[in-house]
Amino acid sequence: MAHQTIIIVDFGGQYNQLIARRVRENNVYCEVVPCGKAMDAIRDKKPAGIIFTGGPGSVYAPGAPAINAEVYGMGIPILGICYGAQLMAQALGGKVQRQERQEFGKIEIKALGGLVREVMEQDVAWMSHNDQITLPPAGFATTAASDTCPYAAVEDAERKLYAVQFHPEVEHTPFGKALLRAFLYEVCGCTGDWTTHSFVEATVADIQKTVGEGRVLCALSGGVDSTVCAVLTHRAIGDRLHCVFVDHGLMRKNEGDEVMDTLAREFKLNVTRVNAGPRFLAKLAGVTEPEEKRKIIGAEFIEVFTDEAAKLGKMDFLLQGTIYPDIIESGIGDAALIKSHHNVGGLPEKLGFALLEPLRLLFKDEVRRVGAELGIAEALVQRQPFPGPGLAVRCLGEVGEDKLFILRESDAILREEIKAAGLDSQIWQYFTVLPNLRSVGVMGDARTYAHAVGIRAVTSTDAMTSDWARIPYEVLGRISSRIVNEVPGVNRILYDCTTKPPSTIEWE
Ligand code: XMP
Repeated sequence: MAHQTIIIVDFGGQYNQLIARRVRENNVYCEVVPCGKAMDAIRDKKPAGIIFTGGPGSVYAPGAPAINAEVYGMGIPILGICYGAQLMAQALGGKVQRQERQEFGKIEIKALGGLVREVMEQDVAWMSHNDQITLPPAGFATTAASDTCPYAAVEDAERKLYAVQFHPEVEHTPFGKALLRAFLYEVCGCTGDWTTHSFVEATVADIQKTVGEGRVLCALSGGVDSTVCAVLTHRAIGDRLHCVFVDHGLMRKNEGDEVMDTLAREFKLNVTRVNAGPRFLAKLAGVTEPEEKRKIIGAEFIEVFTDEAAKLGKMDFLLQGTIYPDIIESGIGDAALIKSHHNVGGLPEKLGFALLEPLRLLFKDEVRRVGAELGIAEALVQRQPFPGPGLAVRCLGEVGEDKLFILRESDAILREEIKAAGLDSQIWQYFTVLPNLRSVGVMGDARTYAHAVGIRAVTSTDAMTSDWARIPYEVLGRISSRIVNEVPGVNRILYDCTTKPPSTIEWE
């Protein structure tokens, strides 16, 4: 795929993926590369521009993450952000020092010229730093300043080197998006050649080239990534793609049928559905410990999948829905911390396949756009996250059909009411849980002793942290009343109002 590329050199800052997403939003392709591997990537990819991220360290500390100073003489435009700005200044003969008053949060700054003045509408920017540039390198003009940070932005327009102490990638820097866009389009000469349409065309061609006349096996989960992956690959190689959908009996109401409707009926994919519910439930009988449940489900999944795959004959590739956040390594993280991510835990090792990962360069929002471009229904493309072990981790204690029935029915009501209230796009994830506790109630003059159902609804951006969603009381009231009236075996509804941390989103 020949796209103009921006290399984002990762010095371990917390917003690195956000920078990448901002660049991609501008229809410019970028890759995040750890600083230790950056020079090789730059020589190899010949990028249109380079962005240095922030980072937690001090540029003058021994062993601080750095990059070979040759990079400044390659004629490639560079934008240094925070730590990256300090690194550039220091490398080119300027000074960086710890300041007395540190700046954190929204800071008023004044534009003095250059790229910053061109785009600045509001004079605030988001800062978070202990160190700062105290003397810019020769040839650099000062283009923005705050009360305590006299060199909030400096640039050498002739050499196309730009350094900003603030963070243009975060929402709290109102002119940040415009600044990044100006850097990409005006300074680097990007043309916006990274679009969903071009991605689909190029990836289809890539898959055809890689797979040749080979056969590809895919484990479908019904999730966004595996669905988009399968439809995209089917477009490239048609019936040489074989999908196995292991229905572990722990899906939500009607979910298995919906997956089959979309993929087998609508898109005409080659899909084998394995109704393995009884097999999974038998293995889970008597098990109550959450981690043990997860392990059993993971292992059983591999068993079932391997059995089915064996029936399909020899396959050359295993298709996986790995996405970009799964493979980005941190610039300063040691090798032990690098995630080795396998959506279908352990499968590639066990089956000895080559991997096909057509979405490996995309962020989640880009995967959704590709799904829409391929014509996959909005409801599937915008589907909320659903854990691999399914309802088992929402069913505390032993998992059984009676409890799964309550979960499925109550969850379906919750989803209907959230949608009817127009709240589905505002809430990241919402579902019911069965805490495995019974309490006394009264229904039609008779005493009941029945299950309590919990409602979990959270807002989040990346599932790493979350807040509980403030569902209006009337909506909660309707959900509560419908569940206790329509789902046999339930007489009480609880609302989970804890943040993550200290809770997690799921209950197990
Ligand atoms: P927690 O409960 O850790 O969940 O706050 C964070 C996000 O991850 C989802 N989740 C999973 N997704 N396999 C998955 O693919 C799993 O085993 C799994 N466990 C939790 C969870 O739904 C939430 O979105």
